[in-house]
Amino acid sequence: MPATVAPNAVAAVSEARQWDRLMALAELGAITGADGAPGVNRQALTPLDAEARRLVLGWGTALGLTASVDVLGNLFLRHEGTEPGLAPVLSGSHMDSQPAGGRFDGIWGVIAALEAVQALREAGIATRRPIEVVAWTNEEGSRFAPGCMGSMAYAGYRPPETWDAVTDPEGIRFGDALATLLASEADLPRRGLGVLEGPAPHAYVEAHIEQGPILEEAGCDIGIVTGIQGSRWFLVELTGASAHAGTAPVSTRRDAVQDMVRAIGALNVLMEDPTDVLRFTVASIEVKPNSSNSVAETVKFTIDFRHPDAAVLRARGDAIEATIKGAVRNCAVSLTERFNAAPAVFAPEVTEAVARAATAQGLRAMHIPSGAFHDAQFLVPLCPTGMIFIPSRKGISHNPAEYSSPSQLAQGTRVLAQVLAELANS
Ligand code: GLV
Ligand code: MN
Ligand code: MN
Repeated sequence: MPATVAPNAVAAVSEARQWDRLMALAELGAITGADGAPGVNRQALTPLDAEARRLVLGWGTALGLTASVDVLGNLFLRHEGTEPGLAPVLSGSHMDSQPAGGRFDGIWGVIAALEAVQALREAGIATRRPIEVVAWTNEEGSRFAPGCMGSMAYAGYRPPETWDAVTDPEGIRFGDALATLLASEADLPRRGLGVLEGPAPHAYVEAHIEQGPILEEAGCDIGIVTGIQGSRWFLVELTGASAHAGTAPVSTRRDAVQDMVRAIGALNVLMEDPTDVLRFTVASIEVKPNSSNSVAETVKFTIDFRHPDAAVLRARGDAIEATIKGAVRNCAVSLTERFNAAPAVFAPEVTEAVARAATAQGLRAMHIPSGAFHDAQFLVPLCPTGMIFIPSRKGISHNPAEYSSPSQLAQGTRVLAQVLAELANS
């Protein structure tokens, strides 16, 4: 394969068009963070998500791409190949955000894929294989846990009805929110669900902001992503008894908050890691009745646990339940595992194509693992899969202050355009 396989397409990537699209999408769910940072709160399957999808659909169909949606709400825009029967190359990411999210996490991967395909078409470059731009449903998992529902269902990792009964904080069921979204997109052709009802893709490439500080600190433009560490999510429910804060002797209480503190203390010991590789986070806590002068009857809290080594993930993750049960004093404990994504290693077909494209374009690139999980993790068993990272300012993400510049974003998209052209002709 020549080093510069699609120079015209690379030149046709428009930094301004891509940035304008990202800024138009950032208006849908715009929020203001600390110091006035312009963030986004656009959670999965909300009316804002539907509006954002319409905007992207409009741009894609105006280009001549063919839209379709599957039963999980994964949205596809297809650029036809000269040999339409060949398995497509897929590229995209997600459009939902964190509740206090930034303007680039996920959405850039969708817009980058669209921009890369538009550039190929404007440069008059035909590809043998189709290229499908994809927006996966509910990657963040912040409204409906867990994340990556769309890609997990596409990959056949879980049956599509798995999460129907999951509720959001308002009690809305995932299945109902999904049905509402699909009803609003009844005008789109329905396609079969992923590899359950269709062929595996030829390859999958996801562009994403790094969300950490490594590229910026190393002065690199492009991250050649080598793989993704494993993640496990748990929901812990502690049930005690409510009582009057002024009258109930402490010795008689079954206080769920106090038991939560004991449990988290013991988990911190279980998760100790002098190498600082392990990631352990408790970040969502729900207390009932949540009143300052009533002893807490129930507490629900989440655990997000990550590690690149599957053995560590298994051993310490499997020890969580016994650790909590050994630490609490008098509450009942229930533990549910909500997400289990094994560490993933990306394919040389993709990492080498990313490295070649970056070199051909004179960009500074380095190999880098992903600490965040991504939909790409679930594509790994299906086809050669990889990711392209660009720097995140100060490594900040899941925060309105998340920022990558128009030119950094365009550099990533130019690499993506070349990689897609190469893979879609292989
Ligand atoms: C994805 O958003 C993650 O939490 O890694
Ligand atoms: Mn993301
Ligand atoms: Mn995210």
